[in-house]
Amino acid sequence: MNLDLAIIGGTGLYAFPGLENVGREAIATPFGAPSGEIVVGSLAGKRVAFLARHGETHTIAPHRVNYRANVWALHHLGARRVIGVNAVGGITQKMGPRVLAVPDQIIDYTHGRLDSFCDVEGTKVEHIDFSEPYSAGLRAEVLTAAARARIDVIDGGCYGATQGPRLETRAEIARMRRDGCDLVGMTGMPEAALARELEIDYACLALVANWAAGCGDETIISLPEIFANLGAATAQVAPIVAALLAGK
Ligand code: HPA
Repeated sequence: MNLDLAIIGGTGLYAFPGLENVGREAIATPFGAPSGEIVVGSLAGKRVAFLARHGETHTIAPHRVNYRANVWALHHLGARRVIGVNAVGGITQKMGPRVLAVPDQIIDYTHGRLDSFCDVEGTKVEHIDFSEPYSAGLRAEVLTAAARARIDVIDGGCYGATQGPRLETRAEIARMRRDGCDLVGMTGMPEAALARELEIDYACLALVANWAAGCGDETIISLPEIFANLGAATAQVAPIVAALLAGK
């Protein structure tokens, strides 16, 4: 199948608005089942695949997502460009609620996740270069598309990937700030590294849902507020993707 783009939707994005002539693909992978069926349809005249990372009814927690199956299944369907949409908390000043950002770096604080295709017996071990964890070309395309759609998106930032599903303590976020993280999320890794192992161009579109612990005025993080902010940010995703596809 010839796919122009695949989207992995995070919290708040369980179906892709505007996809037409939709079909569904149930893919079995050597790594188990993906988070659900992959929806394939057309958008701006291009073939696009969509997969809800947490399942379409949000039943799969970040540490239980089968990242390997998801990335493998999209690659198997023909995806060579993937945009991961991720809800995040904002740490540094410009990353306030409802901001959209295309990060350019990652620090991985997750543990115990199956994070490589290379741990299968007999598979040749590849040490991928991950100095720049995201595809420069696809990042630039997302940023150009956002500008064309007149949607503000911040270029760059360091995404700190935490284990979840709980949110972080203030001390953990303070440490992440010292480490240089601008954003915190639970699902950015190992997705980006797995995409690199399969030579997929991968970029992250991060949607800021809340100030990370201790970064805003609130003493606790309110879930209804997270979802309200996420709803507003998520509405911007489809126009950016449509502009990206139309621009090619
Ligand atoms: N921390 C981690 N992941 C998140 C957050 C957060 O504050 N908000 C949305 N996803």
